[in-house]
Amino acid sequence: MEIWIVESKQELSIISAKFVAHTVRQKPNAVLGLATGSTPLGMYKELIQLHQEHSLDFSRVTTFNLDEYVGLSSNHPQSYYSYMYNHFFQHVNILSENIHIPRGDAPDPEWECKMYEVAITEEGQIDLQILGIGSNGHIGFNEPGSSPESVTRVVHLAESTIKANARFFTSIELVPCQSITMGMKTILINAKRILLLASGEEKAEAVKRMILGNLTPQLPASFLRTHPNVTVILDIEAAKQLRDVNKIPLSIVYM
Ligand code: PGA
Repeated sequence: MEIWIVESKQELSIISAKFVAHTVRQKPNAVLGLATGSTPLGMYKELIQLHQEHSLDFSRVTTFNLDEYVGLSSNHPQSYYSYMYNHFFQHVNILSENIHIPRGDAPDPEWECKMYEVAITEEGQIDLQILGIGSNGHIGFNEPGSSPESVTRVVHLAESTIKANARFFTSIELVPCQSITMGMKTILINAKRILLLASGEEKAEAVKRMILGNLTPQLPASFLRTHPNVTVILDIEAAKQLRDVNKIPLSIVYM
């Protein structure tokens, strides 16, 4: 696991976008695993700019999103489908048939999960998987308690996640209590390379436990240490609790 520490969230956005752009330029038909949430918003903005001003071409790119709320249709304003279209897809030349997001309003969510897992496996590999991290250490919606063997499935959201995500809804009662998420195994087995982004002091403890704590289902992000090719980009705030770890043999790069 390589850790990069940058000055600001803006820098995190610029560097992560360059990372994605490099992947797409190296391999125009790259498969990207994508995340939602506040953290990657700036990265998507930068990627749109790279597309518009520097002809970054997404026409052969395939994407798989990490998760979606159960019960929300794609046109619901808070669905991750809407998020992805509003903040990224509608601004670049990606083909809609190459976009994969679990269907939140699928009549049979369990079947939807099975088919999603099959679609990822059939793709062969995810060249670059973008991840955020919850302040409870979740990855996607793999909440504390998630096994490293978990695959795409319907999960109940942790109380802390419902509270954290209530900011996007008009009231906390409207936050769905279930979601479809890629599993930890889905990510660990299929992603060739992983880029995890974390910004803000509220992530500092989870980041420290991910990097230095035990490998435990109580902090699903800790399992990323078992993957051979993970880069973590942190802003100063998210890296706050790593300050006194200089003696620990970590590959930390201060940008
Ligand atoms: P955030 O969410 O980017 O909105 O902080 C990340 C996550 O919960 O995985």
